[in-house]
Amino acid sequence: MTNEYSNTVAKHYAAFRPALHEVILRRLIRPSDRFSIGLDVGCGTGYSAVALAAYCSRVFGLDPNQPMLDKATIHPKISYVKGYGDDMCVLGQDRFDVVSFAGSLSYTKTNKTKSELLRTLALDGVVLVYDFQVFIDDLTASLGMFCCSASLDYNFAENLCDWPEFTSEVVGTDRVLLQLSAQEAAHILLANSDRYQLFQEKFPDTDPFCGLTGYIRRLGGKPQLNADIYFARHSLS
Ligand SMILES: C[S@@+](CC[C@H](N)C(=O)[O-])C[C@H]1O[C@@H](n2cnc3c(N)ncnc32)[C@H](O)[C@@H]1O
Repeated sequence: MTNEYSNTVAKHYAAFRPALHEVILRRLIRPSDRFSIGLDVGCGTGYSAVALAAYCSRVFGLDPNQPMLDKATIHPKISYVKGYGDDMCVLGQDRFDVVSFAGSLSYTKTNKTKSELLRTLALDGVVLVYDFQVFIDDLTASLGMFCCSASLDYNFAENLCDWPEFTSEVVGTDRVLLQLSAQEAAHILLANSDRYQLFQEKFPDTDPFCGLTGYIRRLGGKPQLNADIYFARHSLS
């Protein structure tokens, strides 16, 4: 992991994430599902852990990045722990009824992580893998800039389908339209270290968030961005 999620980027990450975690979990979790202990791997600033907590008695949020954890949402059901997805011993808990990876599996999809899942997942437990890609290209183009929505080697559709130790119960993808305020759109654009640097250069005399928010407002209307969502639910084979 690089310093992709620096203190500044974590601030914009914590300030706003599209409300897609709940939308996606509703597609993956059945109305009758009740989980005792949940684990959210790569919890970041807590959006995905909070979404999971709605279905669990207790949730652990695991993330190696201290600036993200420092800004994580405090929640009575959630304990945040610093660590990587391939070493769950730091959690002091050896059995999980549900494990989620929201935008984090690509960073930790290794044989060690697989062994950890096989060691800790309850026999009737489930693994939920999901991600989303917000398409920012049109918005950045209207700001006179070219930024890719994501690095080309990042796979938003990553899941556990290629691990025979797991059975895939649900696998899906869909497109949704996000209606945002200028500030929310600015937070999305700045929650990435490469883009943050570009906007710093574009607005050298002001805080990039203020510069960007003003610029988006002057475009008129409310920004609408498409997002592709990817989701999968796996159980033990
Ligand atoms: C795209 S963010 C997703 C954060 C959060 N799940 C959400 O949906 O808001 C990816 C997160 O994965 C974390 N991460 C990176 N490498 C990791 C690893 N090896 N194990 C666990 N998490 C990792 C990063 O620190 C970051 O917080």
